[in-house]
Amino acid sequence: MRTPFIIAIDEGTTNAKAIAVDIEGNILSKGSIPLTLTHPKAGWAEQDPMAIWHATQSAVRICLEFLNIDDLKGIAISNQRESVLAWERKSGKPLSPVISWQCRRSEPLCAEIADRPDAYKIQQLSGMVLDPLYPASKINWLLGAIDNGFQRAAQREICVGTIDTWLVWQLTNGKSFVTDYSNASRYQLFNIHQAKWDDELLALFQIPEQCLPEIISSAQYRGETLNCDGLPNGIPILSQIGDSSAALYGQGGFNDSIVKATYGTGSSLMTKTAVFPKQNLGVGTTVAWHDGQLSLALEGNITHTGSALGFMSQLLGVTDINQLSLWAQSVADTNGVYFVPALAGLGAPYWDVKARGMICGLTDAATPQILARAAMESIGYQVADLFFAMENTLDKKLETLSVDGGPTKNLWLMQLQADILQRTIICSQIAEVSALGAAYLAGKALNWWESYAQLSALPRETTIIVPNPNNNAIQQNYLNWQQAVKRARFQA
Ligand code: G3P
Repeated sequence: MRTPFIIAIDEGTTNAKAIAVDIEGNILSKGSIPLTLTHPKAGWAEQDPMAIWHATQSAVRICLEFLNIDDLKGIAISNQRESVLAWERKSGKPLSPVISWQCRRSEPLCAEIADRPDAYKIQQLSGMVLDPLYPASKINWLLGAIDNGFQRAAQREICVGTIDTWLVWQLTNGKSFVTDYSNASRYQLFNIHQAKWDDELLALFQIPEQCLPEIISSAQYRGETLNCDGLPNGIPILSQIGDSSAALYGQGGFNDSIVKATYGTGSSLMTKTAVFPKQNLGVGTTVAWHDGQLSLALEGNITHTGSALGFMSQLLGVTDINQLSLWAQSVADTNGVYFVPALAGLGAPYWDVKARGMICGLTDAATPQILARAAMESIGYQVADLFFAMENTLDKKLETLSVDGGPTKNLWLMQLQADILQRTIICSQIAEVSALGAAYLAGKALNWWESYAQLSALPRETTIIVPNPNNNAIQQNYLNWQQAVKRARFQA
């Protein structure tokens, strides 16, 4: 039977994915193409902009293979955030690699800005602590690396944008140069109170506003396809949203009682908030989305969770993370061994660029299995640190944690998470929840779904994981973990 559908792209660091979603909210098909991330220097991370575009087109093509193209009503985009590139406005030619969100190359500039008397304003205006994660300092580096970069940017010869903007530019063959509020709020150039690019922040980072995209709603028409491989011309592009926000939307996180964690390379915890928090305890204020009206969120990003498993696997000579997990499960506890994966400092809620990764508590009884378990546990502990920082910031108890992302398929890890938190975990069975969130926004733009009640009623399978009440040992281990974090920090 034929049904209208949307293609929702989820462009991430490790894969470009696409799903087709019909008017009932069902996923009809999926496509995925892997991507590479290179590290030209220690702490640097970059990707190829054209590889990202080609992989995205291929993922869409796979998705469309058995569907009738006449039923395709629009395109939705969810994307890795904070990764940024520059290209020539006239030719569309990339002038830089994609500087990944993981890249720390702009750390020296951040350190220099941090010493200025007006540096305190950055957090006040942008809602987020000064950090090389965000595009502001990366863009300064990018423009500095291009001949006459700052001047050409001011003369509108150069476009600078995050991956959402790059994909819309490519899909429309250079006709649209836009971003949405959720992505814009991650630049550290966006005034979170006035919802626009901020003159003071632009001046602090020396970024000419002329090179930045126009900011529009996350759910509205933003141009149509032109000259794309495998797509007809004239398909409207209807949504653009950062993947973390998209996951919250896809999980139905429309009110401030729902907090979600997306587990990936790093992890992000996010909850919608109606008010600016009175205190900031290591959690940032950001835009959740604009779907007719602007919604704010509290968010914290942990830098190394999934990647901590990759690191430990390499250290132990295990090729497969599943093997690492099996090793972890083969021992009852770590016998006092902790792994603090501060492999590029610590992100939320600590924001300590000087912290260094550490394995502590070793004895002659330590085995590879124990180290594997310490790596798995480090995910649960880091998420708990951020979850409790969020509760303290909000000054209220959060009853559940809704989770999504690859590592959440590991139910052993999710049980451990529930036991550390002593909260029920609602585990999404849909791997592509960010893409689904982007599809919901595009569906809103098409008037398929109008209210949050309608969106909440769409099919979304979950598994509920209840905490084990007899977990004194885990709670003691969690206290020990907090001591380990203190040791990993130089300034604690
Ligand atoms: O904030 C960074 C985040 O958006 C990256 O997403 O999917 O590449 O892990 P992903």
